[in-house]
Formats: sequence, structure tokens, C-alpha cells
Amino acid sequence: MPLRVFSDPTALADHAARHIAHLLTRKPDATLCLASGETPIATFRALVELAQSGHANLDRCTFVGLDEWVGMGPTDEGSCSYYLFRDLFAPLQIRPEQIHYFDAKAADLTAECRRIDAVIHERGGLDLLLVGIGMNGHIALNEPGTPFTNYCHISELAETTITVGQKYFSTPTALSHGITLGLQHLMEAHEVILMASGERKAEVIRQALHGPVTEQFPASIIQKHPNAHIWIDAACDNG
Ligand code: PGA
Repeated sequence: MPLRVFSDPTALADHAARHIAHLLTRKPDATLCLASGETPIATFRALVELAQSGHANLDRCTFVGLDEWVGMGPTDEGSCSYYLFRDLFAPLQIRPEQIHYFDAKAADLTAECRRIDAVIHERGGLDLLLVGIGMNGHIALNEPGTPFTNYCHISELAETTITVGQKYFSTPTALSHGITLGLQHLMEAHEVILMASGERKAEVIRQALHGPVTEQFPASIIQKHPNAHIWIDAACDNG
């Protein structure tokens, strides 16, 4: 597995941002799917700086949403799309037609899944999928036990996800389901980056890279992807 360990979270974020900028130089109309959550925030800020200083151009790319809490949207503080809009789309004035996000408030969530599946299919797959890892090994909201062969689907959230997910909200928030890209999308993405930083993620990263490949630990699927990078900081590295 191509693992790279960076000295600190800033070095990790700078590298990831430059990597995205470079991809967009090669393929300006690339389809990107970027995780929300704490891990990529510094990467988004670094990417915004690159764009604002003329070193990255995000005018022609397309963004596909990775996941969302069912019942929430971009204006709900703590939602997955909230962070993307705050840290990336708003500062870069990304046009609405560049953004294909789940409507997790839709009456028919299954139709919403098929709509996003179709967007990805029509664009020939994801050029880049950047994900973090959950404390239970989840990728996006693919919880332990999710079939590797799933495309977009509704997931019942694991207890760990509900508990850890409270960090995104200023008050205790009821979470029960997510709408998410599936791991088959990950397998079909042209390139995958799994990012993690900090000591608390060291054990799940170790398990993802060196444990058995099993649906009980979704991130282990990364071992099967032919073009995956695992980028972590030194605090997250326990071999
Ligand atoms: P985090 O979330 O970046 O906020 O730690 C990662 C995840 O749950 O996938």
C-alpha cells in the first residue's frame, strides 16, 4: 500500500491541496468527491489559498457529494455539506451547476441515491475520491457490515458514528441514518486518497492497511484499490 507519512497536519494538507491542483491542471473538468469532517478542513483551506493565488483552477470541475445525514442540508450547521460550502464552495464561488450533492431531505431517498449514481456514471466515474476514516473503520457513511458492492444507499448509522458525530454540532443532535456513496464507487474511482491525522486514528489506520479485508471493517477495502494513496501525519503512524 502506498503509505506516506507527513511531519504534521499542515504538511499533509499542503500536499493534498497541491495534488488536487495538479490533477485539475491535467484534467480541468475532473469529477471530484471530497469528504467533509474535520480531517480535510486544512486541505480545503490550502486549496482555497492555491486558487486565490492563481495556482489552482476549480472553475470547470464537478463536485459530487460523498455523504449526508438524512434530514439535513447545507444550511444545517454540522451537516456534511455545510462544511464543504463554508470551507470550499463559498470562498471559491463554485457555481451551483458544478455541485451535485445529495438532497438528504428528499421525500424519496432511494431516487436520490439513483440520481447521484447516474451523475457519477454519466461523468465516467470519479477522477478523485478523497476520504477520511471513522473510528469504527467506516468510509463515508458505509458502516461495518455494508456490502463492498453497494453503490449509493441509505445507511443505518452505527452507535460509534452517532456518538463521534456529535462533535460536528453545537448541541446534542439526533442522528439515525445517512445517505452515502457506496464502496463500489470507491473501487471504481480512478484515484482514492485516504487521509488521517492524529494519534486517535492510528489504530484504525493500522487495521485498514494491515488487517483482513472485510466488510466488517469498511476501510480495509483500500487494500484492493489499484490506485489508492494513504496519507497520514506522524502522530497517526504506529506502523
Ligand atoms: P473526521 O471524520 O475527519 O471528522 O475524523 C472522518 C469520518 O468519520 O469519516
